[in-house]
Amino acid sequence: MSSTAVLAQEYTENPLISVQHVFKWYGAVRKKNAVEVLSDINLDIQQGDFLVLIGKSGCGKSTLLSILAGLIRPSRGSILVGGSRIRKAGKDRGIIFQDADEALFSWLTVWQNVEYGLKVQKVDKERRAEIALKYINLVGLSSHKDKYPDELSGGMKQRLQIARALATDPGILIMDEPFGALDAQTRRILQNELIEIWKQTKKTIIFVTHDIAEAVLLGEKISIMSMSPKATIYKTYDVALSYPRDERDDRFLNLKDELQGYFDGSKADLAG
Ligand SMILES: Nc1ncnc2c1ncn2[C@@H]1O[C@H](COP(=O)(O)OP(=O)(O)OP(=O)(O)O)[C@@H](O)[C@H]1O
Ligand SMILES: [Mg+2]
Repeated sequence: MSSTAVLAQEYTENPLISVQHVFKWYGAVRKKNAVEVLSDINLDIQQGDFLVLIGKSGCGKSTLLSILAGLIRPSRGSILVGGSRIRKAGKDRGIIFQDADEALFSWLTVWQNVEYGLKVQKVDKERRAEIALKYINLVGLSSHKDKYPDELSGGMKQRLQIARALATDPGILIMDEPFGALDAQTRRILQNELIEIWKQTKKTIIFVTHDIAEAVLLGEKISIMSMSPKATIYKTYDVALSYPRDERDDRFLNLKDELQGYFDGSKADLAG
């Protein structure tokens, strides 16, 4: 194991989020065509963690995030947030999806998209405007606030999703490959901005990617998911590199190679 990353302790005290023995089957079990996508997922996430979850396409990353978000229910097992079992989506968890076009409200402006959650929470108009402006500024969209989503670039749409999620001040941000569809340069800018936002807001972030360099650039912890079916959390690393991270640094490259090894088959046990 590289000195840059050490295996995280398996059990921790009072985690903010605790995923306990989560299983997920798709399809009707009685008709025998059920697929066991997730198999005994256990994961503890501390308040303020930046946890990156990596795994191959189709292994079940989005399924796990949807369960964490409360959008779908596990077939077995439970998710505790702050010690209480969650059964549905909640304002303690903000979600940022890979496909901004599906996630954003196309009929609302940037401003109105950010304001929306506050309106639902019946925050008064003046306060709403103040909060929306704060987050629109934070993600650098102030000169685009009256535009509609289809007038924005891909990077701007993802910024808008981030601002919208932050506006209701959830303690937890759940991000599903949010930069996957962006060009390399925009992606790099948003990755750095996200680190800054994380430091400023002290949110707990759970970030899914299949890009290993992105995982090493962002993750304070990196959990590796094994392949489907019956995916589980194979290993979790604590990453001891300070931010911002330098991709040319030997320790960065060594950790990236080590993680890549899990997916190249050189560490065959991952394929399970
Ligand atoms: N609603 C559903 N009904 C049936 N099967 C599903 C459903 N959603 C996902 N699956 C299957 O579950 C598996 C995991 O899907 P999931 O989208 O969670 O993977 P992923 O790791 O997020 O993949 P990607 O990296 O491509 O986004 C896949 O085999 C997928 O076909
Ligand atoms: Mg996915």
